[in-house]
Amino acid sequence: MSGEDLILDVADLWVAFPSYRAAPVHALKGVDLQIAPGAMIGLVGESGSGKTTLARAIMGLVPPPGVVERGRVLFAGKDLRRMDAEARRHLLGREIAMVIPNPRAELNPVIPVGRQIANVVFHHLGVSRKEATGVALDMLRAVRIPDPERRLNAYPHELSGGMAQRVVIAIALACSPKLVISDDATSGLDVTVQAQVLDLLRSMVQEKGAATLFITRDVAITAHFCTRIAVIYAGQLVEMADTRAFFARPAHPYSIMLLAAFSHNPALRARWTRAAGEIADAAGEGCAFAQRCVRRQPRCLTDIPTLRAIAPGHLARCHYPVEERQ
Ligand SMILES: Nc1ncnc2c1ncn2[C@@H]1O[C@H](COP(=O)(O)OP(=O)(O)O)[C@@H](O)[C@H]1O
Ligand code: SF4
Ligand SMILES: [Mg+2]
Repeated sequence: MSGEDLILDVADLWVAFPSYRAAPVHALKGVDLQIAPGAMIGLVGESGSGKTTLARAIMGLVPPPGVVERGRVLFAGKDLRRMDAEARRHLLGREIAMVIPNPRAELNPVIPVGRQIANVVFHHLGVSRKEATGVALDMLRAVRIPDPERRLNAYPHELSGGMAQRVVIAIALACSPKLVISDDATSGLDVTVQAQVLDLLRSMVQEKGAATLFITRDVAITAHFCTRIAVIYAGQLVEMADTRAFFARPAHPYSIMLLAAFSHNPALRARWTRAAGEIADAAGEGCAFAQRCVRRQPRCLTDIPTLRAIAPGHLARCHYPVEERQ
């Protein structure tokens, strides 16, 4: 697929947070990520691995003192980093929408939720107030909020957490964005509501021909909703594969460790997780995961692994990827 057919094409993206006392912390170290229309990419990694920084860098919103040192972000073929601030503002919210956790903080407590959705539509799409209210009602229906006519006039505090998150999703999708970035947006919800919201996000994304970058710490939830999985560790993608291949044949020891952590099998967890006492003895210039890796060999401490294809469409950053799972 050529760059212009892709919704998002991120290449060699580096983001640093300068520090007064030490060398800058690199939150992203050369991330490449391509997202095709209709794709739902699950971006999985532990806390601190760089997920939010990637989402923000895509939107051009890395918080100071963070800086994008290098890299390219093409959105529908347009270079986001070279776009002027006004053009980018126009794009954000309309063509790229972000959903984050804590819906109550996202919503204005003193404006009825219907008006909040209508305001976004009015502002971005230049339709009349009446049409915007019509879209707001359609969106409340689409996100399956019961009794939507009445809920148009509800204030955020009158809604449950799950309902408030649906309103946030309705706002995100009201202008039919091409890309929806969901950053841990469902982590505060209980499992059933989480699945409902994700299902909704998926059906709306498919209906509107958009794409989703679904960021989560919970690898298990991506199995049902994502088309492709990308695993991030210490600011680098370490594995990327279509969902079926990823869950059938995970290849990177870190991915397998994450999957084992969600399994109910203590022996499996133990086999793929290094005991805390063993971790400190492997500092080196090689693989970033070496200190915690149960498969590391001497070479892992000296040679930096590159992200390479181990099967068609299946990439892993590892000298000794797991080929077969027993
Ligand atoms: N505002 C910030 N100031 C300094 N360092 C930051 C800031 N935000 C992120 N970082 C650094 O970037 C790393 C990745 O953070 P983040 O992208 O928030 O990870 P995640 O979303 O995966 O939890 C952190 O471990 C931290 O070192
Ligand atoms: S390169 Fe070596 S240390 Fe790194 S993940 Fe692969 S086996 Fe483990
Ligand atoms: Mg985060």
